[in-house]
Amino acid sequence: MREVQLARLLDGVPQADNFQLAEVARPEPGPGQLLIRTIYLSLDPYLRGAISGRHMGHDPVKLGQVIPGRIVGQVALSKDDRFQAGDYVFTDASWAEWVVQPAAAVEKLDPAFPLSAYLGALGMPGLTAYAGVTELLRPLPGDTLLVSAATGAVGSAVGQLARIAGCRVVGIAGGPEKCAIATGSYGFDACIDYKADGWKAALAAALPGGANHYFDNVGGDMLATALTQLALYGKVALCGLISQYNETVPPPGPNLGIVVAKRAQLFGLVVYDYDRLKSQQVARMGRWLNDGRLKHTEDRAEGLGQAGAHFHKLMAGHNIGKPIVVVGPEKA
Ligand SMILES: NC(=O)c1ccc[n+]([C@@H]2O[C@H](COP(=O)([O-])OP(=O)(O)OC[C@H]3O[C@@H](n4cnc5c(N)ncnc54)[C@H](OP(=O)(O)O)[C@@H]3O)[C@@H](O)[C@H]2O)c1
Repeated sequence: MREVQLARLLDGVPQADNFQLAEVARPEPGPGQLLIRTIYLSLDPYLRGAISGRHMGHDPVKLGQVIPGRIVGQVALSKDDRFQAGDYVFTDASWAEWVVQPAAAVEKLDPAFPLSAYLGALGMPGLTAYAGVTELLRPLPGDTLLVSAATGAVGSAVGQLARIAGCRVVGIAGGPEKCAIATGSYGFDACIDYKADGWKAALAAALPGGANHYFDNVGGDMLATALTQLALYGKVALCGLISQYNETVPPPGPNLGIVVAKRAQLFGLVVYDYDRLKSQQVARMGRWLNDGRLKHTEDRAEGLGQAGAHFHKLMAGHNIGKPIVVVGPEKA
């Protein structure tokens, strides 16, 4: 049987000659294992990192090793009671015509649905979209949701889930053909082709009240641009950084991959929104100050004439604690 192996280490955008087709012996299932004939092999952006050992839980693929990948297949031979020959299944295996997997690593599929969709809308990309929309962003009817890589497996599902939830959906995609699919097949209200001149102005025009939600699949400049279009209290789900997966040197700026990996939440904070907490803050923190549980340090200067120099000290980073200029006589 044939499998695809790593022929040359990846450097930048993967090329066809990074991979080689090899004839190998068909594996035999042992007890508790299944022999599966691959029907569909999933290609996903995470594989770029997985092959290079930069994706969660993946060691780098060595030269001559088979490439890992998710498949939909049909059981040819089962040595486990839970499966029988003919079952359609999903498993995270490899780029190979036949795979042997332990039964515990295999999911039986409901053939009532299109089988290949278990690698897309009904699989990992669809779950990514479903979780991002229903658990993280939680858009309300009438909200506007913006999504990048809008015609990809994740982006197309995100936009359509938001549309079904009653949102106005704006996509960003590369090229007129993709945008026609977004607005045609997927029913997005608008799609902006970021490869066209003047796309940033077109994006702003498509979002007159801003985006209440942005689902980011791309990172980098795309994220930077999309952030400028957020509405007040807009929410952002950072899902992927495909614009950076082929880079060999980390791009400047914060590593937002960490936000994704840590499932972190970033919040924009403007203190002026929280006047309602003031009396609670003073009561609680005042008590803690007086009983010593809360400490405060002040960096004091004496006399208004010192204000400029003291401000310099602050902005040069030399203050230790809260800068205060003592201008008048202090309370006895
Ligand atoms: N966080 C998670 O758990 C999770 C799970 C699944 C997927 N993801 C991420 O979700 C994103 C979308 O995944 P997907 O499976 O639906 O794939 P996808 O969107 O089909 O990914 C390929 C598309 O990305 C876009 N893209 C933008 N900048 C690019 C660049 N510099 N190089 C190459 N492509 C670029 C291209 O579409 P345009 O021409 O429209 O730009 C390209 O067609 C990826 O970032 C992926 O890593 C994250």
